Amino acid sequence: MGKKKLIAVAGISLAAVLIGFLGIVLWWASQPTKPKQTCDVDNLVKPAGWNMAEETRLALELEPDLENGIEVYEVCAACHLDSGWGRVDGTFPQLAGQHRTVLIKQLADIRALNRDNPTMYPFASPGGPQIVSDVTGYIAEKRLMNPNNGKGPGDDLEHGEKLYKENCVKCHCEQGQGSAKNFYPRIQGQHYEYMLRQFEWIRDGKRRNANPDMVKQIQGFTEKDMKAVIDYASRLKPPKELVAPPSWEPDLAD
Ligand code: HEC
Ligand code: HEC
Repeated sequence: MGKKKLIAVAGISLAAVLIGFLGIVLWWASQPTKPKQTCDVDNLVKPAGWNMAEETRLALELEPDLENGIEVYEVCAACHLDSGWGRVDGTFPQLAGQHRTVLIKQLADIRALNRDNPTMYPFASPGGPQIVSDVTGYIAEKRLMNPNNGKGPGDDLEHGEKLYKENCVKCHCEQGQGSAKNFYPRIQGQHYEYMLRQFEWIRDGKRRNANPDMVKQIQGFTEKDMKAVIDYASRLKPPKELVAPPSWEPDLAD
């Protein structure tokens, strides 16, 4: 092969490699980015008449002390477990994975008796905004979610999906991830039995701290509708990074 021919072949090969490489880069750039599990709206929507304890605002302004958070959480673990997973039978909700803003609001509301919780009240009543900040900071930063939350019977999921898309997405989002900014709870990964009880109490005005817009939205729900939509919600998957690996044996210090 002559020298010129060799240079030409090498040049063509290099060009081919470069074009191929460019092609790959362009293809990669044109791929849709994986949808992130968020649908926060920019403005905080706070409907009039939404009962929110004053302590919520105070606790949100304080820096959490996670070391103290572990100590406070020891009491909570008696019911919500070391893992923060609660119980599949719904007696105790899962706290792991919940938005810190939601944990703060719910804890502050329970403490202020805006939300009835006679089982928990005696254990949660001492303290103040700093303790609320510490324990919720600990839960939100250190607890991973139960990979096997309680689910419904799975016999009416199509109806559940339709109801969910029409009535819940605007607040709890497509995947049930909720909105930290708006205090909308994460409901993906939560236990079916717990959610069913809360949903009914919210509908019937028994959970007095509920968002009035949600109360209005679900007024017409029958028993069958409630079961179907909560069953569907209990099957929505949290993002992997929030879920505990299968062999995780949680210790409070983890
Ligand atoms: C004696 C048992 C018990 C103890 C101890 C306890 N809880 Fe609870 N907690 C409950 C029960 C029961 C509920 C659900 C009540 C209901 O069904 O309305 C609950 C609900 C909650 C909720 C609301 C969750 C949600 O999804 O809305 C938060 C937040 C919470 N607990 C945090 C705590 C923290 C923090 C502590 C420790 C300071 C604690 N709990 C101690 C029993 C307990
Ligand atoms: C207007 C917004 C909005 C809509 C619409 C809405 N929710 Fe909610 N939902 C909330 C807020 C906010 C809370 C927490 C209420 C509070 O402040 O205590 C909540 C609480 C809940 C809870 C209890 C969660 C917990 O951890 O205690 C469940 C379950 C729930 N919603 C399910 C649904 C389902 C299913 C639908 C549709 C059928 C729905 N919600 C529609 C805003 C909404």
